[in-house]
Amino acid sequence: MTEAVRPRPVTSPRSWRAYRDEFAIFERHAYLNTCSLGALGARVRAAVERFLGLWNEWGASAWYGPWWAELDALRASVAGLLGADPDEVALAPSISGALAAVASCFEYRARPRVVVADVDFPTVPYQWLARAERGAHVEFVRSPDGLGVPIEAFEQAIDERTALVATSHVYFQSGAVQDIAALARLAHARGAYLLVDAYQSVGQLPVDVHAADADFLVTGGLKWLLGGPGVAYLYARRALLQALRPAVSGWFAHRDQFAFDTRHLEYADTARRFEAGTPSVAAVYAGRAGLEYVHEIGVDRIRARQIELTAALVDGLRSLGLRPRLRGDQTAHAGIVTVPVEDPSAVVAALRRDGVIIDSRPGVIRLSTYFYNTDEDIDRAMASLRTQMP
Ligand SMILES: Cc1ncc(COP(=O)(O)O)c(C=O)c1O
Repeated sequence: MTEAVRPRPVTSPRSWRAYRDEFAIFERHAYLNTCSLGALGARVRAAVERFLGLWNEWGASAWYGPWWAELDALRASVAGLLGADPDEVALAPSISGALAAVASCFEYRARPRVVVADVDFPTVPYQWLARAERGAHVEFVRSPDGLGVPIEAFEQAIDERTALVATSHVYFQSGAVQDIAALARLAHARGAYLLVDAYQSVGQLPVDVHAADADFLVTGGLKWLLGGPGVAYLYARRALLQALRPAVSGWFAHRDQFAFDTRHLEYADTARRFEAGTPSVAAVYAGRAGLEYVHEIGVDRIRARQIELTAALVDGLRSLGLRPRLRGDQTAHAGIVTVPVEDPSAVVAALRRDGVIIDSRPGVIRLSTYFYNTDEDIDRAMASLRTQMP
């Protein structure tokens, strides 16, 4: 390739190396597992220490000042990333908790069906399998290749008895990207709602909930938003809020929670109506600090960098004679790559001994890159994998 046509490497506001230096795990490890858990950044550690300091110094009075403000700041930060209004964002303890609150709003009488993909994360169908005795019926759309699901398969499955379509933006076992705007059109054409599990997408892929016309979207700090476990985020479209009355609830859902009105549950006008009890404040501090990296760099830049790194990872795997499972080109794929191997757990353990951290799922090893990775991480992983080749 001549100099004139070589693509310019993607840049960031500070150097990629400077960002990487904020993640201490890279002092010793090649970390290629953001799809399971984002690495711990210095800003996140400092934010949790700030929380501990306030707890130590202020006790309960921290609630009425900085902690309360931090909850609002987190909802606003999430909203900014999703293209939502802060009033459309609720905090939840986990994706499962957020999904349960949404699932509890529906009656499942005239519309008992909930359409999910068989490659979705299990906690998505579980919400409605758990409601089978109350009338919900889960309709599984089959993935023909175990990677993604063609939009036509959803089209066939959605009908006038469908309450919700609930599926992933990025499928966790493959990295395949779903066209959520097309799904919203299909769902709405038949009077159904669209709920998107975007745990594996927000941060590494641009998401605009209004442009996509999604009704609900769940994501959280654990993976690409770098906030660790303990807090998840629910977007609910403003126009739906008044009509939705979650049966999974608590005092944070009340419009005036400090009135302590025992007799009446008046839901908040905002998405707060989906909240329940006291959130994990340490996780809230961590969550907002993790988001700071993503906001500062910008999702478009992260996506461009991901495309470079994922291409290098796929090339490396192929050069070892392995067959990464990919569907379509890079635009149809996020930064998660799975590779069939005979004994995935043994390969993960062997790489761990070489300081390379990856993960496994049934039948495959799973690797993922993020903006803080380098070609050296990939080379180190390939060198270690080579020793595992038969
Ligand atoms: C796509 C996806 N959805 C949901 C979950 C699980 O969410 P939670 O444990 O917060 O319920 C995971 C994995 O952690 C996931 O990858």
